[in-house]
Amino acid sequence: MRSMVRNSYELKLMRKSGRTAAAALKKSLEAIKVGISELEADKVAEQEIYKLGGDLSYKTVPGYKFATCITVNEQVVHGIPTDRKFVGTDLVSVDLAVVYKGWHTDCAWTILLEKNAEKEKFLKAGEEALWDGIAQAIEGNRVGDISNAIQAKVEDSGYSVVRSLVGHGVGRSLHEPPEIPGFGAKGSGVALKSGMTLAIEVIYAKGSSEVLLSKDGWTYETLDKSWGGLFEMTVVVGKEKAEVLTAWRNP
Ligand code: MF3
Ligand code: CO
Repeated sequence: MRSMVRNSYELKLMRKSGRTAAAALKKSLEAIKVGISELEADKVAEQEIYKLGGDLSYKTVPGYKFATCITVNEQVVHGIPTDRKFVGTDLVSVDLAVVYKGWHTDCAWTILLEKNAEKEKFLKAGEEALWDGIAQAIEGNRVGDISNAIQAKVEDSGYSVVRSLVGHGVGRSLHEPPEIPGFGAKGSGVALKSGMTLAIEVIYAKGSSEVLLSKDGWTYETLDKSWGGLFEMTVVVGKEKAEVLTAWRNP
């Protein structure tokens, strides 16, 4: 099996891939306004990726041809960008991945268009769960330590982790082993080694964790129509601290 630990040359390319993904995520999130369509936000991301010399990682998924997945409100992941225009009450997630010289990085974030205390609380919990999970991405820990940290934050905040969708290794391809669930027991699963590259994902819902595939055949949405949230960063496991490759703003 190919080693999951990257050497310094490979990490250099992954860093460039990650910077490109972060810049594209930032641009598309900033473009999202009332009256802008999902397809327009997708195009902003696509143009930034090409401008920085990257390519669309999602094109490596059979049948998919967009730069991003865009999901709103009760949608959770894998939303195909459509001509739907954003409205003020939307909760919007942008998920995108870049491939640069054969190296993939993956990231996602969720934002609001207008202030809403309940939705802000929901998003704060997801973002904190992501940083708590990333803090566990250190050598000597196991995948379950990341999973457990995510689960603890999401559930202590009163929300639920989606069980059927998970984070993953990332690098030579978009999805590689190991799977990284947002739930699990401390000390369980694959042992983490410095240099492993992981896409850590917090995929959660305000209500029940059950999701279903919608009629378009791509988008997962919550069964109870409660809000879905998504936060994802690609990181390198470190000896003392993980390195975040796709940070699009200071935490
Ligand atoms: N970023 C998504 C994930 O890792 C993958 C989306 S693949 C697509 O979960 F084809 F649906 F875009
Ligand atoms: Co992913």
